[in-house]
Amino acid sequence: MATITASVYTSHVPAIGAALDLGKTNEPYWQPVFAGYEPSKKWFAENTPDVIFLVYNDHATAFSLDLIPTFAIGTGPEYPPADEGWGARPVPVVQGHPELAAHIAQSVIQDDFDLTIVNRMDVDHGLTVPLSLLCGQPQAWPCRVIPFAVNVVQYPVPSGRRCFNLGRAIRKAVESFDQPLKVQIWGTGGMSHQLQGPRAGLINREWDNAFLDRLIADPEGLASMPHIEYVREAGSEGIELVMWLIARGAMSDRPPHVVHRFYHVPASNTAVGHLILENR
Ligand code: DHB
Ligand code: FE
Repeated sequence: MATITASVYTSHVPAIGAALDLGKTNEPYWQPVFAGYEPSKKWFAENTPDVIFLVYNDHATAFSLDLIPTFAIGTGPEYPPADEGWGARPVPVVQGHPELAAHIAQSVIQDDFDLTIVNRMDVDHGLTVPLSLLCGQPQAWPCRVIPFAVNVVQYPVPSGRRCFNLGRAIRKAVESFDQPLKVQIWGTGGMSHQLQGPRAGLINREWDNAFLDRLIADPEGLASMPHIEYVREAGSEGIELVMWLIARGAMSDRPPHVVHRFYHVPASNTAVGHLILENR
């Protein structure tokens, strides 16, 4: 059977992708950000899974106000990097895993979660920046990726509780797939940031670090946090953090092994947070 071996949590700031693509990783502003991911790259190279189930949000790239799926699973064979207004990032096309994705869709929908099935879409920085941070700049991504897009852009957005329970349903689905695949689940976005309005630039270090503490040790309690607290404490885009609860819900109920934890301000307008948890 397939197993979930580990989960990875990381911010997905688009400027990180631009810094990589433009060769700026050693500039004084960016060096501390990329230094924080060096242990992660090493860990990932030694623990490359067969498939990454990658939870992210589409930033009005593949979807728009015309069509707003709350949860969308990529069941297609491949996903090109999106042109977000300045040309597509020079990164490989993502290879999907249609068989596992279809199995997860079947299982999770039968468990009463409504998923939108997506066979063709372009993937934006929400998905490609995390891959770049852990895999570097390869000719081809080193494993298959199942994109899983969550609406955290247009209200109403799903609650932390629903995301956490969805993670549990994804775990059950993966563990009932009849092939010995190693699967990692990644949650992306966050941490505190607000990109517009009078509070643009908001960062809340204390709250972010308490969120990381609770994500490790008390995910179920954390899942009951209401939207208003994310928005008030972590800014309007801090709501992206509900996606981390999908990845955490997919982990074993036993306490995880903390492989790596990193927090850094600033990176563009965002506090960068990053965590790697392994199932014991
Ligand atoms: C920034 C961060 C994001 O998560 C995003 O989607 C867009 C921009 C930023 O910090 O600039
Ligand atoms: Fe974002």
